[in-house]
Amino acid sequence: MNKFALITGGTKGIGKAVAEVLADANYNLILTYGNDDETAAKVQNEFKNRFKSDIFFIKADITQEDAITIIDKFLTEKNIQVNSLIFNAAITARTPFEEITQKEWEQVFYANVHFPVFLLQKIISKIETGGNVLFTGSLMGIYPHSLSLSYGVTKSAVHSLVKNLVKYLAPYKIRINAIAPGFIDTEWHNTKSPELRKSIESKIAVERFCDPLELANIYKTTIENGYLNGEIITVSGGYSYK
Ligand SMILES: NC(=O)c1ccc[n+]([C@@H]2O[C@H](COP(=O)([O-])OP(=O)(O)OC[C@H]3O[C@@H](n4cnc5c(N)ncnc54)[C@H](OP(=O)(O)O)[C@@H]3O)[C@@H](O)[C@H]2O)c1
Repeated sequence: MNKFALITGGTKGIGKAVAEVLADANYNLILTYGNDDETAAKVQNEFKNRFKSDIFFIKADITQEDAITIIDKFLTEKNIQVNSLIFNAAITARTPFEEITQKEWEQVFYANVHFPVFLLQKIISKIETGGNVLFTGSLMGIYPHSLSLSYGVTKSAVHSLVKNLVKYLAPYKIRINAIAPGFIDTEWHNTKSPELRKSIESKIAVERFCDPLELANIYKTTIENGYLNGEIITVSGGYSYK
């Protein structure tokens, strides 16, 4: 029987590229998204024509507490055991330091840290023995972020969460890792000016952003390599070497 992978934020960018690579390898997929129904419908149509495996789409906004119940209910009703749980969706807030409100700060923490902890707690029995959890961390969780304090701090927390959870997940025979991407060519960067893009590229040794599919192949390897556990795998094109 084909394995199931659940990817949060699976309709665009990194999550969609990981979905494509896994569907190519015959994984069944559950792809969640937050708000953009139109894109989700387009991707659903595209994937139906391209892939033979079962691919489900669920709207579950990670800033809302009901996202946990929505996902859990779906797995229960379909009687699905997940092989790979990929926490990819995250939010940011680029408010200047002086204007950050506690509400905004807590929302970023809820979506990026609390949501994965409590979804994992809720569906731990629905992850297969020998399965794995994979987070999308960030290079900005390693190097201080100049545009979003809450984003940088929550991504550091994600890296720490991965390391701390290894011991909690070992009894279940579940591995856990994070990939910390540098600059990946997705909608995430839509608001960046050409000048800012150039400035970023000038700091990367390979002098370009990463294609989402280049990165997605590393997700597949990490999911499938049974000896990778508790790792934060940085994929930055040599960001710190230039
Ligand atoms: N791109 C980069 O350079 C880069 C670098 C390091 C780390 N990352 C991390 O990679 C992950 C994905 O980023 P990306 O660049 O692929 O972004 P993206 O292209 O904007 O895609 C984001 C995906 O997440 C979903 N999403 C956004 N807000 C959500 C919410 N509140 N609830 C549920 N789903 C939500 C989106 O669906 P909807 O639009 O329908 O909400 C979409 O499927 C994030 O964790 C980000 O921090 C990205």
